[in-house]
Amino acid sequence: MRYISKLFLNSLNISKKAMMLNRVLLTLVLICSYIGALTAQKQAKTYARKPVVERYNNMVVTAHPEATKIGVKVLADGGNAVDAAVAVHFALAVCYPTAGNIGGGGFALYRNKNGTFDVLDYREIAPGNASKNMFLDSAGNIIKDLSLKGALAAGVPGSVNGMWELHKKYGSTNWNKLIQPAIDLARKGFPITTMQAREFRNHEADFSKYSHRKNYLIKSVVKDGYLDIIKLLWPGDTLRIPDLAHTLEAIRDKGRDGFYTGWVADSIVAQMNRSGGIITHQDLANYKTEWRAPLKGTYRGYTVTTMPPPSAGGIALLQILKMLEPFDLAARGFNKAITVNLMAEAEKLAYADRSKYIGDPQYISIPTDTLLDEAYLRQRFFTLQCCRANPAETIKPGTFSWPESEETTHFSITDQYGNAIAITTTINSPYGSHLFVSGCGFILNNEMDDFSTKPGALNSYNLPGSKANSIAPGKRMVSSMTPTMVEKDGKLYLVAGTPGGSTIITSVLQTIINVIDHKMDMQSAVDAPRFHHQWLPDVLYYEKGAFTKKQLYMLKALGYKTQEREPIGRMDAIMLKDNKFIGGADYRGDDNADGVNDGTKFDE
Ligand code: DON
Repeated sequence: MRYISKLFLNSLNISKKAMMLNRVLLTLVLICSYIGALTAQKQAKTYARKPVVERYNNMVVTAHPEATKIGVKVLADGGNAVDAAVAVHFALAVCYPTAGNIGGGGFALYRNKNGTFDVLDYREIAPGNASKNMFLDSAGNIIKDLSLKGALAAGVPGSVNGMWELHKKYGSTNWNKLIQPAIDLARKGFPITTMQAREFRNHEADFSKYSHRKNYLIKSVVKDGYLDIIKLLWPGDTLRIPDLAHTLEAIRDKGRDGFYTGWVADSIVAQMNRSGGIITHQDLANYKTEWRAPLKGTYRGYTVTTMPPPSAGGIALLQILKMLEPFDLAARGFNKAITVNLMAEAEKLAYADRSKYIGDPQYISIPTDTLLDEAYLRQRFFTLQCCRANPAETIKPGTFSWPESEETTHFSITDQYGNAIAITTTINSPYGSHLFVSGCGFILNNEMDDFSTKPGALNSYNLPGSKANSIAPGKRMVSSMTPTMVEKDGKLYLVAGTPGGSTIITSVLQTIINVIDHKMDMQSAVDAPRFHHQWLPDVLYYEKGAFTKKQLYMLKALGYKTQEREPIGRMDAIMLKDNKFIGGADYRGDDNADGVNDGTKFDE
């Protein structure tokens, strides 16, 4: 109600006519929204595209059935969630090369059975020879695609070191036993899904341009030799990647050193020299992961534990939840204009703060406490004009006294011992830099594009560059990856995360709101259509079917520029209810890739 009364205060500043119009509109919005609320519960139940999957023992949800199968086997053999995560991570590097990787990085959120959390940051870092203006020409203009494709786009990969450290601290199964299934998968091959077949074709031109033809995946496809074989890829064709199997053997036998030193490191550096890159032996040998304290916040009595910087995801997620907490979203209804209005405005404020304050905490000071301060957030939200889209140019990052300084994949696993892990890992864009390391069978990331290449310039997710996120040797680029867990009364309730670049944060947000506010079951919460606003560009993006015609009309009347877009995110989540693990796998775009363990397909 405070928000509604704010309308009348704000109205004092505008003309009488506009005030009347505003009132009429508000009344209309309220009436429609409350009528809608009556049917909201019914609607919410219908979003699930697959039956709910429940299990008592454990749960593995990944983006690919082959990876899930491997994770399930590790758990069945007595391994814990971390063991399964390590095996799944390497398996995804084989069967999900669009994002699964050993040439990229990520974030892991771990919760042990006693409820203690740990965060592992294995984000890529800028090579030692990287520099602030490395993607600009002599006139100071951005050189097209340089931060996105080819050797200079790659940050020093963190994934292998990440899995090594994670396993060292929390694993219980022998390292080599966890890598072997990925090696077998790469050697024996696996049938590609419909989406993968389509993607390989779509990316062929870039693979040809940035990788030596003989080095990339097609060489390994079991059909008619390697030349032009991508054109022959169909769903169900078998893909084998023997070079990658060879690399994984080095990692199996020598651990992290098998990747960061020795012949694999030599191959990476040789590839850099051939392709104009700057990653050196020293960069590889010195790569270090960081254990970090997770961020914690609360929402309607639930505890939300999530990613700290250099991910911007956790701060933004907790900010948005805190701004929304005073409002009864359930009564307003799922994806009703009046609900979307509140959520989109909160999202804009959080993304505006992100644009100024988030960077690598080892390089800049981040005012995390202030950004998460309830009074700060309330004050920021209540300065907005109510019941309308506040134009992006009227929204700025928050000001307070602070010294100036400035295709991803997610999987969730819970084990039979009570531990849980959520990992989001990426090489940034689908197939990263499109640069295969010759003889090694893996692609390097293009994570350098997540840095600010130039102040104010937009990266590939349209996120504006800032001083806080400028390039410096050894620095980590800001991420949106947000593996998150939610607890109720000290008990684990939800494990969630998704790919999607800048939309990751709002997808995790909507999944949390779908289960807590709209009381959706796990699969509905994952499948329910999504929307996204990130302040700049000033556009409310939405998936097909997210809004009815009427709601869309009302959103436009509230002042939103709206745009339908391709599916947003691919959530792999687990809910715990009545001592059961309920898997929620996101089928957006790839119906063949059923990576949820439903207890029939994958059990031994
Ligand atoms: O770290 C980040 O925020 C991005 N590199 C994530 C990229 C991503 O999610 C792409 N997948 N759709």
